Amino acid sequence: FYRAAASPPSSNFLLLGPSGAGKTAFTTLLEAKSSLASKTSHNTHTSQVSTLITVTLPASVPTASNRYRSVNDPSLKEASRNPIKYRLRDTPGHGKLRASQGIAELQTMASSNDSKNKLRGVIFMVDTAALVDEAVLRDTATYLHDVLLVLQKRSLGKGRSSTKRSTEIPVLIAANKQDLFTALPPGSVREKLEAEIDRVRKSKTKGLMDASMDTAEVDVGEDEVLGDDDGQGVFSFKLMEDVGIKVDVTGGAVKGDSQEEVGSGVRRWEEWIGMCL
Ligand code: GTP
Ligand code: MG
Repeated sequence: FYRAAASPPSSNFLLLGPSGAGKTAFTTLLEAKSSLASKTSHNTHTSQVSTLITVTLPASVPTASNRYRSVNDPSLKEASRNPIKYRLRDTPGHGKLRASQGIAELQTMASSNDSKNKLRGVIFMVDTAALVDEAVLRDTATYLHDVLLVLQKRSLGKGRSSTKRSTEIPVLIAANKQDLFTALPPGSVREKLEAEIDRVRKSKTKGLMDASMDTAEVDVGEDEVLGDDDGQGVFSFKLMEDVGIKVDVTGGAVKGDSQEEVGSGVRRWEEWIGMCL
């Protein structure tokens, strides 16, 4: 009889976000779930290097290719015997390490043409209890702005030079720590980030204009401004869709994953991952 050889996972996900958001806690949890170990401690410390782990998608989580299957479909049983695996890269979120690690990693992975090493999605994790702090909000939005700009450049750059548009790399904003009573709900996380990215965008556009005054060139290319409106309107994640980047904001909690409550845990992020596979 035929039996598929176990091949190494070829789908990659990149985990970005500011320090303390819960990236390593999430990575540790997924690793523990994959190995069926009863490791439930999420005690982590500030990361200084990135790590790559292989994760098994729970068989109950649908993927883009099996979403229309019924629960009785024998191929679902097959899926639990031959589970879908993917790789997740955890990066350090400290401001001083972003350029050399998170952003650099994103640039390398996003431009890779190796079909065995595809970047399927970017997960940008935020601490929803910390976003009420102006400084944290500014820092988070600045990082997210830079991440989206890398993806926009990739998306627009390839679309123009060839007829074949590069495959999209969607972004999940994982609104973590929803278990805390001080946490902002995902809807207001979205609004706050959009408003703050708008501010970041405006000050960057102004900086570019001021710089180009010297060279008598007041042409700020779309390559430098995030969104499809030359920085004229108000920024929203919807604008990113016009440049081929889908952004979702979904709440969850690494800490609440063992609870069966609706909206807690990491299930909805796993479902997002599944839809990218
Ligand atoms: P860097 O490595 O510095 O970039 O940070 P990180 O994003 O990896 O954060 P880390 O995973 O180290 O988590 C920071 C702290 O948040 C830890 O004390 C975690 O236990 C805690 N934490 C993570 N997820 C949750 C959550 O869902 N709820 C609560 N209450 N705490 C969480
Ligand atoms: Mg970490």
